[in-house]
Amino acid sequence: MGKDKIRRFKAVKEFDNFIEPILKEDCLFKGKWRTHFFKNNNPIVLELGCGKGEYSIGMAHYFPKKNFIGIDIKGARMFVGAKQAIDQKVKNIAFLRTKIDFIECCFEENEVDEIWLTFSDPQPKKNNKRLTSPIFINRYKKILKEGGIIHMKTDSDLLFEYTEQQIKSAPYKCLSLTWDLYGDYINQINGVMGEILNIKTHYEKIFTKKGAKIKYCKFKIS
Ligand SMILES: C[S@@+](CC[C@H](N)C(=O)[O-])C[C@H]1O[C@@H](n2cnc3c(N)ncnc32)[C@H](O)[C@@H]1O
Repeated sequence: MGKDKIRRFKAVKEFDNFIEPILKEDCLFKGKWRTHFFKNNNPIVLELGCGKGEYSIGMAHYFPKKNFIGIDIKGARMFVGAKQAIDQKVKNIAFLRTKIDFIECCFEENEVDEIWLTFSDPQPKKNNKRLTSPIFINRYKKILKEGGIIHMKTDSDLLFEYTEQQIKSAPYKCLSLTWDLYGDYINQINGVMGEILNIKTHYEKIFTKKGAKIKYCKFKIS
């Protein structure tokens, strides 16, 4: 790890909006995110693999009556979003450093309203590690409310094709799906949702520069 990464990795641990449970053990806020952390009864939205947290921060601005939690294993990356949230006095956001594999240790059944997957690793050789594999979807099923929505934005053809197949082969309900978000699709989306879909993350910018088309879908798993 470079010197600056080490500095950020250590510094973020001191932030009030950063939580780091011991892996595989129940998180302090499990079942209590609303009452003990956010201190309101608003919906909870997760961004899984949030990196620097651009989506969580962007959405937290647009939806002050929702609570956002960016989740990733890389603390030095999350430092960027957590620091921005503090500097901008954004209160409806938290950053949780854990492996998504242990998400059930962090949230109680039905505690979560919505999930965003933003530029997830495509895991070309390990289907089971893909964040839309049945293993992960079954984890989300436990913590998501009935009818809770999963959004996915990606540059990866491989991951998107795989996800489309999962949606078709399992009894999930596809609500929206496009292989070219910034083609005709985005122009048909009005209001805040159009603004949200236009948020560009660190990795989106990298992949777009390389010429990748950005894909998007949203679906229900229950
Ligand atoms: C390609 S990056 C995308 C980051 C960010 N969403 C963006 O668009 O800039 C994927 C992120 O997912 C995180 N990640 C991948 N698998 C994970 C897992 N099982 N648990 C926690 N984080 C994971 C990585 O650490 C990385 O930050």
